[in-house]
Amino acid sequence: MQTTLTDSAKEAADILNSGGVVAFPTETVYGLGAGICHTEAIRQLFHAKGRPGDNPLIVHIYSPEQLTDVAEEINQSARLLIEHFFPGPLTLVLKKNQRVPYSVTAGLETVGVRCPANPLAQEFLSHCSSPVAAPSANLSGLPSATSWEAVYEDLHGKINALLRGKPSTIGIESTIVDCSGSVPVLLRAGAITLEQLEAVLPEIIVNVHTDKQEIPKSPGLKYPHYAPKASIRLLQANDEITIRPSSAYIGLSAPPEGVSLFRICPTLQEYGRHLFSFFRHCDSQGIKMIYCELPENIGIGRAIRDRLIRASGKR
Ligand code: TXA
Ligand code: MG
Repeated sequence: MQTTLTDSAKEAADILNSGGVVAFPTETVYGLGAGICHTEAIRQLFHAKGRPGDNPLIVHIYSPEQLTDVAEEINQSARLLIEHFFPGPLTLVLKKNQRVPYSVTAGLETVGVRCPANPLAQEFLSHCSSPVAAPSANLSGLPSATSWEAVYEDLHGKINALLRGKPSTIGIESTIVDCSGSVPVLLRAGAITLEQLEAVLPEIIVNVHTDKQEIPKSPGLKYPHYAPKASIRLLQANDEITIRPSSAYIGLSAPPEGVSLFRICPTLQEYGRHLFSFFRHCDSQGIKMIYCELPENIGIGRAIRDRLIRASGKR
């Protein structure tokens, strides 16, 4: 398959509207989109990523007004979150309506909905004739793609088009909050932090995922994720380590002596923004081991910790 590279949101949307699978930028990570009613495109999208069929897709809209196109009910907690954080790096899980096919929700009665703030994403989505189902635009299991070049590396020849935008400014996937039950639940940490959510919804609880849970609240959480080819070793303050050859480091503090490649991030925001692109860069350089400083569970540190722990295979 020929993958069309384009800078035009309209051209990308036209390809999606005619049943194509199209990657597009968002402020979190790049997404791989198909119209929710294009059954064949949805099937191709799962196939291109190598994604297990029981992992539901997030539906993307350009304006909160489109929520009624996909959600059966928007309760008070969802309303408050929409008011505070839409558009932005937040996905809400809501009861789905009959317009959302089960191929998108992997058989669930709920749907994840996100309204990205990235202007090019908004322009693209506004030209799409229906809401757009989109997982992250990477091969399943690999780090999410935060630049169009990373999408190209994973998916060229497997998708119809790639809308080239700027690198993602956040670099970590959206926060997911399940608002479909009586108590809101944080399913995945992201750039909208638990502290920000608690300020709006003091009753919110954090989902504790264990591998023993038969049906995880968020099906995707049970799969391996975000892993580069290199091994990941998590570093905490005062850890004594012997540096292996061909190793790299990313974190807030100074790197351990002897690593051949490193990135010091002055803030947690920068750590999040560069994490996945650094993983991919290390793979391209043949790095065998990446030492990653494990930040505290505060602010976006919670999301970075979560991705690091998963990438290291510890969860
Ligand atoms: O920032 C993001 O969220 C990016 C951009 C493209 O929007 N998307 C993304 O999609 O990260 P993906 O497919 O890589 O991760 C979506 C996660 C999966 O863990 C999936 O199981 C969960 O969202 N999810 C989707 N629909 C759900 C639902 N109805 N209930 C619970 N979890 C759901
Ligand atoms: Mg993903």
